[in-house]
Amino acid sequence: MTAAGMAREATPREEGRAVTNVYIDCDPGIDDAVAILLAGGSKSLNVRGVSTVAGNQTVEKTTDNARRVVALAGMGCPVVRGASQPLLRPPVHAGEVHGDSGLGDSHLPASRTPLAAENAVAWLAESLQREPDPVILVAIGPLTNVALLLAAFPEVKPRLREIVIMGGAMGPGNITPCAEFNIYADPEAAKMVFRAGVPIRMVGLDVTQKVRATRSVIDKIRSLRSDVSEHVSGWLTSYADAVRALHGEEGGALHDPLAVATVTHPDVVTFEEMYVDVETRGGLTYGQTVCHPAGLTGHAPNAKVAVGVRPDLFWDILIDALRQY
Ligand code: RIB
Ligand code: CA
Repeated sequence: MTAAGMAREATPREEGRAVTNVYIDCDPGIDDAVAILLAGGSKSLNVRGVSTVAGNQTVEKTTDNARRVVALAGMGCPVVRGASQPLLRPPVHAGEVHGDSGLGDSHLPASRTPLAAENAVAWLAESLQREPDPVILVAIGPLTNVALLLAAFPEVKPRLREIVIMGGAMGPGNITPCAEFNIYADPEAAKMVFRAGVPIRMVGLDVTQKVRATRSVIDKIRSLRSDVSEHVSGWLTSYADAVRALHGEEGGALHDPLAVATVTHPDVVTFEEMYVDVETRGGLTYGQTVCHPAGLTGHAPNAKVAVGVRPDLFWDILIDALRQY
């Protein structure tokens, strides 16, 4: 663990990379927590703020978890609380996967750093306006905060270089046969974001389900023998137990960490330009992301959709980042 505030050495893969300013909007959530730690351990990222939203658990729990993880990482960035419920639909959570706390049976110490703001949307608008250059917003939870931000403060759109979304799928969903959880938890918000005219990269289940933290991955992380790696391996073990019990799958998919990794290493996935829209009136298809290859519907593409992934490179990126602690 580096002393708090000490500059971390760049990892071999990151040397020479420019530093990218990012904001993370999340619903910790085990994979969100690992994503925050990946970002905090990446020398080429400067995390300017972490905002929370209801999703995997209530916003009270996701906010408490975000504060604890940011403190564990020694990141020192502001944490702000966002929307407590979706725009329109009844709230949906994922306690069966992430546990009642949202972080499995984790025992992270409470953070002593107070919240920087109780209203993430207003705080994001004000912070983005102060940024000297456009930044990247990494959205790894339901898109409620992002939709509210773009609707209430459209003037911030030029301050966003792009929005990297963990969400959606060209193929089957994970919360219903057609929908991925982040989109399903607030389909109306997602529809607004895809229509907002801000550049989007969509990192969906088609690629994230190919990076699963199996026993061998967990053992490699535990072998780093740090406070951070001990917590991460514990979370991933309970995550793996949950997905085995629920779906008979081996290893929890690291959805959110892969989305973060595409910022530091864009070549970890391959993208195709598509027109993406969200089903908000369907019954069985409610929350489905319908991804049209360019030209199919006459709509201009509005997103770059991840279609391929390099799992070995991703695991190297994750281990390199966790090794910084
Ligand atoms: O479908 C996976 C997504 O839903 C991830 O962001 C996970 O944290 C949950 O929020
Ligand atoms: Ca998440």
